[in-house]
Amino acid sequence: MQHITGQVDTHRERYLEELKEFIAIESISSQKEHDADMRRCAEWILHHLQSIGVQDVRIFETAGHPVVYAEWNGAPGKPTVLFYGHYDVQPVDPLNLWTSPPFEATIRGDYLYARGSADDKGQVFIHFKAIEAYLKTVGSLPVNLKMIIEGEEEVGSPNLDRFVKEHKELLDADLVLISDSSMFAKGVPSVCYGLRGLAYMEIELTGPNKDLHSGSFGGSVHNPIQALSEIIASLHDKRGKITIPGFYKDVRALSAKERKAYKKLPWNDKKYAKDLGVARLYGEKGYSTLERLWARPTLECNGIWGGYTGEGAKTVLPSKAFAKISMRLVPDQDSTKIAKLFERHIAKIAPKTVSVKVRALHGGEPALTPIDSPGVQAAVAALEKGFGKKPLYQREGGSIPIVVQFKKILGLDTVLLGFGLPDENAHAPDEHLSLDNFYGGIRTAIHYYNELPNYWKSARKR
Ligand code: BES
Ligand code: MN
Ligand code: MN
Repeated sequence: MQHITGQVDTHRERYLEELKEFIAIESISSQKEHDADMRRCAEWILHHLQSIGVQDVRIFETAGHPVVYAEWNGAPGKPTVLFYGHYDVQPVDPLNLWTSPPFEATIRGDYLYARGSADDKGQVFIHFKAIEAYLKTVGSLPVNLKMIIEGEEEVGSPNLDRFVKEHKELLDADLVLISDSSMFAKGVPSVCYGLRGLAYMEIELTGPNKDLHSGSFGGSVHNPIQALSEIIASLHDKRGKITIPGFYKDVRALSAKERKAYKKLPWNDKKYAKDLGVARLYGEKGYSTLERLWARPTLECNGIWGGYTGEGAKTVLPSKAFAKISMRLVPDQDSTKIAKLFERHIAKIAPKTVSVKVRALHGGEPALTPIDSPGVQAAVAALEKGFGKKPLYQREGGSIPIVVQFKKILGLDTVLLGFGLPDENAHAPDEHLSLDNFYGGIRTAIHYYNELPNYWKSARKR
């Protein structure tokens, strides 16, 4: 393996220069003005994969941003990996909180700072370099490979289900591999086996039919911002539980085994609170922080607006107030069902003094993946070789809704081999990727492709 993993040391600098180019394309999927950048980014991937020797690379149009598909099929009799990643990134605002420009990847200390460095361009690029290392040295891969790199993950993958359904045969494989999550901590590699789901809602509250002078009218009607605040405040009780009737009905209880395993993980609440700048943590009573993050559902207000928020004071009693509210879900909650419960509950508790509209923006299902599968055991072996340490098993609080769809549509289990870090500032200013994880990730990916056929074969024999 040395002649292959050795590539990582030989080409360290070039890898970074290429990743910087990939990152420089402003592929923000949610903003119309970046539509041309989205296409440029898909084309950049196409050319890059061709340049490293992956011959069958295609761009598929969708109703939204294009999907890049690639295939390398030169290992007959070996397992086929379906790799999934995304080239789209989140918006960069607030821009003034970035230490260096978000699309000019900049090294400070042991980190590469840029939008997309960790989520997910950097992690996708890790695999490009692992593939390149094989094709440049031995000229072949130890497994067959299919890749889907999509451009709409950050907006809820509205067109991906359809793409997968329409290309079932093309995507036929043995397992799915995704690098779009985090390791447990710096120097602590891990395999992820669970993700939360999501139900994302928007509330619009209307009071009077126009903005009013708060002096002439204040005291006569219910301010919609006040009404909305009352509604939002009532969604949690004193013990941090969500008050929507039926919300917990399908929640699978944590097993005693899992609770015990989480207790053994190297975790410190005090340090965590200090790093986040809060005096105390908050959450559902009766559960540890890791349990609340990974295995309990939550409800968050992502944004609230209405009335006057400009410079200085304006005495106004606004006509409307809005909020965006998301719920993270765990097995066996169903995002459509939860969205309905939310809608019904809000309609019921909204006071008669205002009118209310609730919309579901998008959703996704929670996932648990089997940890005794050959795909995961190969990941354990590869991480140990790539980082020199046995990995932990963990879940994540974030969501990758396509994981469950891969199971439903293609019948495939997913291996989550993440190289981010929990404090990487994903979706926030100063997002960064650890260079240790970048190079260790490439080594791990090289080992993964090498290990997989062995684990696959012995699993088949059993
Ligand atoms: N890479 C993340 C998902 C993730 C985050 C996995 C943290 C593990 C840990 C992904 O790009 C993401 O941001 N997903 C969205 C899902 C959504 C837009 C449907 C999320 O979790 O908010
Ligand atoms: Mn991601
Ligand atoms: Mn993301």
